[in-house]
Amino acid sequence: MSRICIFITFMSVMLVNSEQNTPIVVTTWNFVNSTITAWNILKQGGYSLDAIERGTSICEEQQCDGTVGFGGSPDEDGETTLDALIMDGRTMNVGAVGALRRIKRAASVARHVLEHTKHSILVGELATQFAEQMGFYEESLTTPDSKRLWLRWYYRNHCQPNFWMDVTPDPGKFCGPYSKLENFGHKSDNWIPMKINRFNHDTIGMVAIDRKGDVAAGTSTNGAKFKIPGRIGDSPIPGAGAYADNAVGGATATGDGDIMLRFLPSFLAVEEMRRGATPTQAARTAINRVATHYPDFMGAVIALNIDGVYGAACHGLGDEPFPFVVQDITMNKYKIETVNCSWPLH
Ligand SMILES: *[C@@H]1O[C@H](CO)[C@@H](O)[C@H](O)[C@H]1NC(C)=O
Ligand SMILES: *[C@@H]1O[C@H](CO)[C@@H](O)[C@H](O)[C@H]1NC(C)=O
Repeated sequence: MSRICIFITFMSVMLVNSEQNTPIVVTTWNFVNSTITAWNILKQGGYSLDAIERGTSICEEQQCDGTVGFGGSPDEDGETTLDALIMDGRTMNVGAVGALRRIKRAASVARHVLEHTKHSILVGELATQFAEQMGFYEESLTTPDSKRLWLRWYYRNHCQPNFWMDVTPDPGKFCGPYSKLENFGHKSDNWIPMKINRFNHDTIGMVAIDRKGDVAAGTSTNGAKFKIPGRIGDSPIPGAGAYADNAVGGATATGDGDIMLRFLPSFLAVEEMRRGATPTQAARTAINRVATHYPDFMGAVIALNIDGVYGAACHGLGDEPFPFVVQDITMNKYKIETVNCSWPLH
């Protein structure tokens, strides 16, 4: 009898502890307004999917760092296009858009793909047509800032940097149009990392758990500056930019998307937590997997388990730590956490 009592007491302590940190939201970089917006929904008992959609949308409206939303990261033609993802860990349903043109609210269009179609990802001009059918309106995503950025890149910097390889004329000196070189080296021999920092290569990524324990994750970005038109990165790819599973938790990634998406780091982090890893270990494993193959890549992963425990790892930011924002039920205000990229391997 007493043993049962002790057991029941123990169980209830465990339950109280595990519920203590949720609801919770984690957000990449310093995007505090998104965290506040998401938190206001979560603390009122709102749905994690709503918190993610509204949180990422605020960043689109406020053009966070110029790397999210309209008027940033023009492509080679000077056009801004948007990528966004939203994932529901309760249903394992995904909605995403890639290279979305002339529609500002990419995160909300992604939510419409999730809720009003049986598809998961829509891209380009045809995603714009879908958005219009759903009641979104078309407008230019170009601003005086993005136009100036593009003009400087094209005329003053002769299209440097760019993402071309093994083409002629030499993309290291000249603008296109290019044609392919017939005799070229192996790609791995030629891969040179772009000079990357948070102002030319990042994303808002968020993971949230609501009061019911439903996990959701999402991303939004305007992609890489001066990308080849049509390019999408890791952000709209489920398992790469973000992943969520109610049984385990969620994760999100930011950084050199062209490289990171090859390793599905958000999926890997969630799977590591499923196998018993702590969120910090899980994030490190995901970062390590990429670094094994691309020692110069820049990126970060945040992992959050269903108990509201979070961890992060980063790589290639130099001496800069990676910042991320957290708010959970135990905090009166959001908190900016940082993680050093020079953590010991294994
Ligand atoms: C946060 O939002 C306020 C207005 O609500 C704005 O003044 C401020 O610049 C925003 N912060 C960032 C980092 O965008
Ligand atoms: C991170 O690294 C810097 C030096 O690069 C050091 O001063 C700081 O204490 C480190 N922070 C943590 C939390 O390890």
